[in-house]
Amino acid sequence: MKLFGIELINFRCFAEKNFNFGDNLNIIFGPNAVGKTSLLEAVHVLGLTKSNRTNNDQDMIQNGKDYFLVKGFFNKGEISDTVLVCYSGKGKQVKRNNEIFRSLGEYIGFFNAVSFAPSDLITFFGASSKRRREFDMAFCQLSKQFLYWSTIYNRLLKERNVLLKTLSFDDNVKTKKLLEVIDQRLIEAGERVIQDRQRYLKQLNLILKRIHKQIAEQEELKINYHASCSLGNYDKSLKANFENDIKRGSTSVGPHRDNFVLTINDKDLCVYGSQGQQRNAVLSIKLALVELIYQTKGEYPILLLDDVFSELDKIRQNQLIKTLNKYVQTIITTATLSDIDKGLVNQAKLIELKEGGGYRDAK
Ligand SMILES: Nc1ncnc2c1ncn2[C@@H]1O[C@H](COP(=O)(O)OP(=O)(O)O)[C@@H](O)[C@H]1O
Ligand SMILES: [Mg+2]
Repeated sequence: MKLFGIELINFRCFAEKNFNFGDNLNIIFGPNAVGKTSLLEAVHVLGLTKSNRTNNDQDMIQNGKDYFLVKGFFNKGEISDTVLVCYSGKGKQVKRNNEIFRSLGEYIGFFNAVSFAPSDLITFFGASSKRRREFDMAFCQLSKQFLYWSTIYNRLLKERNVLLKTLSFDDNVKTKKLLEVIDQRLIEAGERVIQDRQRYLKQLNLILKRIHKQIAEQEELKINYHASCSLGNYDKSLKANFENDIKRGSTSVGPHRDNFVLTINDKDLCVYGSQGQQRNAVLSIKLALVELIYQTKGEYPILLLDDVFSELDKIRQNQLIKTLNKYVQTIITTATLSDIDKGLVNQAKLIELKEGGGYRDAK
């Protein structure tokens, strides 16, 4: 499936704009603050219904307006689809060919996107919660079942924490009974989340090993899953921590406390990695995700690379594009075209954004 066009209304700096994309490599170029990152963000929103830059959908509404609309035009052979994501202060709606989805979860997985921006380094090498969110979002694209169980888990966890807080100042028998019921369901959901994360990580690590060797020959990059309790033991761990959890007013073990640790040759990249190593590692992970989505779903996601090419030398740029299957639709952004290898520029569809909102298809 390819995204051949996009229409934006009241989205960030775009009041009303249409863009066309090519099937393979696309390069968006133009000076600072013309909307390159925003355009990639809009494509990301079409896939995941969420931004890769902000947790607050309101940020994407153009200042002074009360809604935004992103419309994507897709084709797959003879079949064409139109997807519309609309958000106003009241809520978000997703439609495919005029069919409204009752929940966003029903839609996720139709059009997959993998994004990489410089800010991902903060995500991957900052708090463990950010890495968790990042991997979970990727796994949600792979499997509706994972999306279902992780959503249920997070909902139950919130309910449990509310009850724990009440118990911490009122030892109520009824509340304790309710907690027992929630715990039974939490254990089931939690075990499923841990199991799926482990399964997908195993597959991802296999692909990653191959891909990262092409980027850095001497390095073995691995994603290690540090679970706060082992699979099959969530039940016991919850029980063992029960009194402690009441005192804290929150749940101390479970998938929401697990960590994804990135290592190179068994050394923690957070602690030992140079900036270059960290950037290459995240890039490799994103490329591996592209491949994993293909292996699982039989279709490549769109790859969105924001401002990363200019930091790679031209040999690396070419290597990167070669590691990608030629069927992967890719959009990259850059401030200056001269930073990109000529051969790549010649084969790409060029989209120039100009100051003051101008735009032209450069090829
Ligand atoms: N909600 C919004 N409403 C209006 N303008 C916005 C909004 N959010 C961001 N902008 C503006 O959009 C412009 C484009 O930003 P960005 O996409 O980051 O550009 P680029 O990646 O080309 O540097 C910036 O000037 C920014 O201030
Ligand atoms: Mg930018």
